[in-house]
Amino acid sequence: MRIIIITGASSGMGREFARQLDGYLEHIDEFWLIARRTDRLHELAKELKKDCRIFQCDLSQRSSMVELIQELETKKPKVKMLINCAGYGKTGKFEKLNYQDVTGMIDVNCRALSALTYSVLSYMCSNSRIINLASVAAFMPQPEFSVYAASKSYVLSFSRALRKEIDDRGIWVTTICPGPVNTEFFDVADKKNKESWYKSKFMVRCEDVVNRALYDSLKKRDISIYGIPMKCMYVLSKVFPHRILTKIIHKLNMYNSDENV
Ligand SMILES: NC(=O)c1ccc[n+]([C@@H]2O[C@H](COP(=O)([O-])OP(=O)(O)OC[C@H]3O[C@@H](n4cnc5c(N)ncnc54)[C@H](OP(=O)(O)O)[C@@H]3O)[C@@H](O)[C@H]2O)c1
Repeated sequence: MRIIIITGASSGMGREFARQLDGYLEHIDEFWLIARRTDRLHELAKELKKDCRIFQCDLSQRSSMVELIQELETKKPKVKMLINCAGYGKTGKFEKLNYQDVTGMIDVNCRALSALTYSVLSYMCSNSRIINLASVAAFMPQPEFSVYAASKSYVLSFSRALRKEIDDRGIWVTTICPGPVNTEFFDVADKKNKESWYKSKFMVRCEDVVNRALYDSLKKRDISIYGIPMKCMYVLSKVFPHRILTKIIHKLNMYNSDENV
């Protein structure tokens, strides 16, 4: 049995990966879809042509993947694609974040992504793919998004190193680094979901980011960055000292803050 595993499939980019892959991978037998909101996963499963298995996992909890790992051990599928999409960020000053979110972002974005990749790797064979969702936030430290940006730097660094370790097995890791994408991400990141200059200028469609990511993964590319503005951010983060960039981000945050309105 050949499968594709997608975390964060209940919404946004995870769901879109399932929709786009459903159309054109004949040799895949099942999607294994992972998230907390199983009602959403069932809705998606109805919509897809391929068979789906649904796993309710709260990836912030260490024990959450037990059932999934047992299924892997029992069914011994060939995992052709692992797409680690589950993740979230909370904006705000570090001291003002709540404790669960500080640890939760690291648990979901870093620990669960690494743990699942570790558990799945032995079921992957030649010409398989891993797609990990980082962010443009991975390129530099971000005041008032500090834990999230650091967690995505981890994803980028881990994925690039892993890619080198396993490319001789024909398993290709691609890291996706989007700027703002039109999903539910910002409803979670900031309950007020304020309209910032950054979002209004650079927000892109989820469908386009995922389409580009699949193309880059197919081409065995190391990194996928959608759009010229985010490619410029990448170059900027390589050229300018991070000390200066964090100062600029901090100033822009202050400008955008409620306190200054
Ligand atoms: N949207 C953006 O602007 C943007 C930009 C750069 C990078 N990213 C990254 O892209 C990825 C996908 O985000 P998105 O934009 O598609 O946001 P989204 O629509 O909010 O989707 C996030 C997904 O993660 C899942 N998730 C969150 N916490 C979880 C937990 N504790 N256990 C299991 N699943 C959990 C959610 O499922 P449940 O709530 O049902 O559990 C949901 O399916 C994330 O890693 C995000 O950091 C997003």
